[in-house]
Amino acid sequence: MAKYKIAWMPGDGIGLDVMDAARLVLDHMRLDAEYVPADIGWELWRQEGDALPQRTIDVLQGTTCALFGAITSKPKDEAERELRPELRGQGLSYRSPIVRLRQMFDLYCNLRPCKAYSGNPLNYRDDIDLVVFRENTEGLYAGVEFRPFQGEVRAALEAHSPAMARFKDVAPDDIAISARVITRRGATRIVRSAFEYARRRGYKTVTLVEKPNVLRETSGLMVEAARAVAADYPEIAFWDTNIDAQMMWLLKNPRDYGVLVTSNMFGDILSDLCAQLVGGLGFASSGNIGDRYAVFEPTHGSAPKYAGQHKVNPMAMLLAVKLMLDWLNETDRAQALEAAIAAVVREARVRTYDMGGSHGTMDLAQAVADHLE
Ligand code: NAI
Ligand code: MG
Repeated sequence: MAKYKIAWMPGDGIGLDVMDAARLVLDHMRLDAEYVPADIGWELWRQEGDALPQRTIDVLQGTTCALFGAITSKPKDEAERELRPELRGQGLSYRSPIVRLRQMFDLYCNLRPCKAYSGNPLNYRDDIDLVVFRENTEGLYAGVEFRPFQGEVRAALEAHSPAMARFKDVAPDDIAISARVITRRGATRIVRSAFEYARRRGYKTVTLVEKPNVLRETSGLMVEAARAVAADYPEIAFWDTNIDAQMMWLLKNPRDYGVLVTSNMFGDILSDLCAQLVGGLGFASSGNIGDRYAVFEPTHGSAPKYAGQHKVNPMAMLLAVKLMLDWLNETDRAQALEAAIAAVVREARVRTYDMGGSHGTMDLAQAVADHLE
């Protein structure tokens, strides 16, 4: 029996292309793994009314971790229209399968390293090495939303929050509420993940990025929890900053920062900025990590216009494989893979279109594999 069982979820569009690249490299590394295919994505929604069917969840439950390519998703009305005719009008509603996976498997830590590999023409500056820790299960994406806003929920908010007075005349369908849910447990564990990572890998600073002067309760609780955790790591400087200012500082002085930690939506935004500083979607990988399970993915979507052409940059996917190898404690392989990726970028012989080249997805994968000796 193989040492690892890895769920294999290409999804839609270029998800399939970049997963082909991942497989080429993994096979070359002879990782002792069995890859178990699992269905996810838009086609499943259209055909079965569920982008993440129960059989996929069953597969995941029997595996060590998962690799995921990308999926297509569309707004509510379009989703309904694209359903197979027999499934329409049954009240099925599309929910992002990746958000569901994060919540279902409690993958609370979204890890997004953003490193400028030297020689990448897409680097904003060289020597940028940022690592974003985004809380992945709470915050504004917890799914606690109300519209129409009426009944007991409305009455309770109006009774307990003076700030609601300004909205009392707004009709129920003309007002929408999303709750920003932060728990001490959620705040503590994401901040601890960030500090542990900083300690293990020698980062000198951890920056908590929130907005406590305005979001007094939710960001306030993040700051409180973070200060308590920071006390356990005296060798690491703890900074706390506001999200808006931090976006400016990252453009101005990106080399001043190391590990950044924040709540769900701020992290979503912050990590896209950081990704763009080091080459954009073709280089942005992420891990969705819980205490017992993890899903690794490039952060780009399914880019339908390039689907099946094996044209896009596989580096984001290969960096996601690297994160998976780290998580599996396959440290030698992880380091070798990162070194091979860095070498291919530096040598500049094999490049996809986004880096100004004309090579394909599999050419890059092969070039990385060739460096893995
Ligand atoms: P996208 O990330 O799929 O592509 C946007 C553009 O970025 C592409 O047209 C392409 O020019 C470039 N790009 C993306 N990946 C690249 C790569 N590996 N190499 C080189 N260039 C790359 O975002 P878009 O077009 O907004 O969304 C397409 C679909 O993907 C939508 O249905 C969206 O909902 C979904 N999506 C899924 C995500 C996921 O699976 N995690 C994340 C983001 C979007
Ligand atoms: Mg995002």
